[in-house]
Formats: sequence, C-alpha cells, structure tokens
Amino acid sequence: MGGKLRLGVLVSGRGSNLQAILDRCADGRLSAEVAVVISNEAEAYALERARQAGAPAVVLDHRAFPGREAHDRAIVETLRSHGAELVVLAGYLRIFGAPIFAAYAGRIINIHPSLIPAFCGKNMHGLRVHQAAIDFGVKVTGLTIHFVEPEVDAGPIILQHPVPVLEEDTAESLSSRVLAFEHEKYSEAIQLIAEGRVKVEGRRVRISPPKSEG
Ligand code: GRF
Repeated sequence: MGGKLRLGVLVSGRGSNLQAILDRCADGRLSAEVAVVISNEAEAYALERARQAGAPAVVLDHRAFPGREAHDRAIVETLRSHGAELVVLAGYLRIFGAPIFAAYAGRIINIHPSLIPAFCGKNMHGLRVHQAAIDFGVKVTGLTIHFVEPEVDAGPIILQHPVPVLEEDTAESLSSRVLAFEHEKYSEAIQLIAEGRVKVEGRRVRISPPKSEG
C-alpha cells in the first residue's frame, strides 16, 4: 500500500471523535489523513475543530436541498472531489440514501455507543442510548464500530469494546466513560482498514494479523 488512507469524515455536532482522529493523524499513530470534513449542520463545533487542524470543512445543509437524494449526491461529489477513500461517520445524524451506497459500497463506517444489537436503531443516539442501557439494567455496555449498510446500525461489525455500567452511573457519566474508549477504538479500527487487514465475509469481519508478524 502506498500513501495515507484519505478519510472523508461526516459530522453533525460536537466532533470529539473527529478530534481524536485528527490528533492521531497529526502525531502519526494513524496512517491516514482527513481529506475533508462534511457537516449537515452549519453550527457544528466539529467544523471549528477541522479548521483549526487545517482540514477542509464543508457545510452541506440538508434543508438547502430538494430531497435526500440530492443532498446525498452533493455529499458524494464533495467526498470525491477531495479524494476521500473511506467515509467515517462521527456523530452524523442523518440516514443515507442510494447515491452514497452506490459510490462508497463497503467503504463507510460508523461508531455507535453500545454493543450492537443492543440499544441501537432508528432514533437511538446521544444520551438516549446510555439511558436505555441503564433502564434495562445491563451490567456491561460499550461501543461498536461497524460498516454502514442501508438498514440502520445493521452492517458487519469491525470492532467492539465493553464498558461496565456502575451502580451510580447516570446517562451522562456512562456516556463520558464510553466516549473515552470511542476516541481510542475508532482510530484503531481505521488503522486496521488502512493496513488492509479488514475483510468482510457475509456478516463477519475478519481481521488479519499485522503484516510484519504474518
Ligand atoms: C458518539 O457517542 C458516537 O458514538 C455517536 O455520536 C457521538 C458523537 O460524539 N455516533 P462526537 O460528536 O464525536 O463528540
């Protein structure tokens, strides 16, 4: 493999996962570079983080397009024009339509703050996910990084990491403990892809050993 994997990161909000990726690209822990950051929300703090790191930041407000397809097509054009090879969803709160899947089939990943298939699916995002885990009474929750398919939160799982639920946890405290692991693990998963070690077989994702040890 040649140069660094070029990432197109899609965001809608605060962008702490984006920040973790930018930091790891900058210090070399991640053999990737953020080719473009796209937000559907002009006010997203993630855009500011991108600008501070010198990464191109583009706003594509879905409300300014006649429909989902047109918005998706604009996203694909922007990703392509910046040479993005892998689409990384980092707190992106919109559902995709056909144009993105046609252009980036098998090359879109997402992070979700629970152990899928628990506490996921439509409208399960933010603190709601953690509140649902607490209300259900699970003792362990965590995070999942997965390929994105048209069905929400249903694509093949690349990596999961468990996080215990503590007696005194609130949605906020649990969320911040899970988030700290998200920041580490998302880059780990991207690095595996950058190293060409991730292969999808049906629903299963096979991770091969590092080339040097292989
Ligand atoms: C994270 O919890 C992520 O798992 C979920 O949305 C949140 C985004 O947080 N998909 P941030 O914008 O990266 O800080």
